[in-house]
Amino acid sequence: MDKLKTIKIFDTTLRDGEQSPGASMNIEEKLRIASQLEKLNVDVIEAGFPIASDGDFESVKKIAQMIKGPEIAGLCRASVMDIDRAWEALKYAGERGRIHTFIATSDIHMERKLQMSPAKVLETAVKAVKHAAAYTANVEFSCEDAVRTRLDFLAEMVEAVIDAGATTVNIPDTVGYAIPFEFFNIIKHLKDNVPNIEKAVLSVHCHNDLGLAVANSLAAIQAGAGQVECTINGIGERAGNCSLEEVVMALRTRRDILPYENNIKTEHIYAASRLLSTITGIVVQPNKAIVGANAFAHEAGIHQHGVMMDKETYEIMTPESIGLNTNKLVLGKHSGRHAFVARLNELGYDLPKQDVEKAFVRFKSLADRKKEIFDEDLDAIVADEIIRVPETVKLKQMNVSSGSFVAPTATVELEIKGKLKRTAIIGDGPVDATFKAIKKLTGLQPRLVNFSIGSITGGTDALGECTVRLEYEGHEVIGQGAHSDIIVASAKAYINAINKALDFSQRTKVRI
Ligand code: KIV
Ligand code: ZN
Repeated sequence: MDKLKTIKIFDTTLRDGEQSPGASMNIEEKLRIASQLEKLNVDVIEAGFPIASDGDFESVKKIAQMIKGPEIAGLCRASVMDIDRAWEALKYAGERGRIHTFIATSDIHMERKLQMSPAKVLETAVKAVKHAAAYTANVEFSCEDAVRTRLDFLAEMVEAVIDAGATTVNIPDTVGYAIPFEFFNIIKHLKDNVPNIEKAVLSVHCHNDLGLAVANSLAAIQAGAGQVECTINGIGERAGNCSLEEVVMALRTRRDILPYENNIKTEHIYAASRLLSTITGIVVQPNKAIVGANAFAHEAGIHQHGVMMDKETYEIMTPESIGLNTNKLVLGKHSGRHAFVARLNELGYDLPKQDVEKAFVRFKSLADRKKEIFDEDLDAIVADEIIRVPETVKLKQMNVSSGSFVAPTATVELEIKGKLKRTAIIGDGPVDATFKAIKKLTGLQPRLVNFSIGSITGGTDALGECTVRLEYEGHEVIGQGAHSDIIVASAKAYINAINKALDFSQRTKVRI
C-alpha cells in the first residue's frame, strides 16, 4: 500500500491564540504550554510575534532555547526590521527556527490598510522572503486575507514568494469568510496553476467567524494542502481559529475518507486543553467537540443502554484516545505524595520540586475537608498555587458579613507591594462589598466585564471556582480563584485579574 501523505500540524496557540481577548500569558505560562505542545508532538509551534513587545521576544527566545522536538516559528511583518528581530529570537532553535512573514494581498487590505499597489505589495513580499531566506531555509510566507484576494493575484504572489525562497506558503482565511467548497477550489486552483507549487508546502489558516474553520481546513487538505494551522480549544482572534483537537480527531476518526497521517499523539489532547483553560481562564463550553465536559457523556437512557451493549453504537471515538480517563475519582485523604505527583503528571503538569511541595500542602488541606479529590480539584490547586503572575497585590485576610438583616460588609486586608492595608466597606451584596474594598485599597478602577462562579465538582464540600474578566487600560484580563468559600474565591479571582492587568500594563504590545 502507498504511504499516506502526512499533514503537518502548526500550532499557533501562543501567537494567534494569545490574541483572544483576555488570553495574554506570561513567559512561564507560555513555556508550560509549549512543553505540552511538545508532548502532543505538533510539527511547528508558533511561539509569538517577537517585535511586538520585549515580553514576546523573550518568550519566543526561551521557547527556541528550551523546546527540542517541534520547529519554532516567530511571526513578523514583511519588513527587514521585523525579520531581523524575529531571527534574533529564533536562531536558538537552529534549523528548527522558522521565520513566518506576512503581508495582506486582498484589494481591500492593500488599498485601505496598506495603501500600496499590488505591484508594491508583491515587491515587498519578495524582498522580505529573500531577506528571511538569507538567515534560514525555513521560511513561511502568508498572504493575509487570502480568501478575499483576486485568485490571479494570489497565484502570482504564491509563485513569486516560492521563487524567492519560501518553503511554506500559507493561505489564511483571516476573517473567517470562506465556505468549504469555495476554499477547496482556492487551494485546488493554486495546486493546478502555480508552476512551482510542489517546491513548497501549502498551508491553511482558518478563522472561525462562521463556525467553519475546521470544515474549511479539512476541505483544503482534500484539495492538496499539506499543513494546517490551528490552536488548542480553537482560541484566537474574535471567534477563534481552527481547533487542533477537532481537526486532528476528524482526520483520525474519518481516515476512511480522509486518508492522511499526522504526527499528533492524541492521548495528550485532553491535558493540553485543560492546561490552556487553567492558564488563560477561558472556560471550554460543555458541548465543545472532543474536549467539552459533555463530549463523551451519554445522558439519554437509550444512548446509555446502547453504549453498555456496545460502545460503538453511539461512540465514534474513545475518551482514552484523547487521554480522558473516564474513571475520574482520583485521590483522597490517604493518598501519598507519589500518587499525587503521578496524577499531576498524567494531567500534563510537570512541576518543579518546590511547586510540587506547595501543591501537595494545599492538596492535603483540601483532602482534610473534602472526601474525594477529582482531577478538576487538582487543576484548581495548580491554577491557584502555581500558575501565578507576579503578586503585586496579595490577599492577607478577609471577613464578610451578609444575610437578610444586615448590610453586606466586607473587611479586607491586602498586602500591596509589601505594605499591609485594610478597609471595611458596605456593598450591594457580599461580592460587591469585597470588590469595592479591593478597588479602594488598590486605588484601581477596572471595569468588571464578566463574573461567574461555579463549583468545581459536586457536593456542598466542593471547591468553588470564580472567574472574573476585567477591562483595564483598554485590555481585558481574566482572573481565577478557587476556595471552599465562594466569596474568598471571588476575592482571589478579582485580585488575580488585577495582578495580570498590572503585569500586562508593564509590557506594551503592538497588535496586528
Ligand atoms: O489570520 C491571519 O491572516 C494571520 C496571519 C498573520 C497568518 O494570523
Ligand atoms: Zn490568524
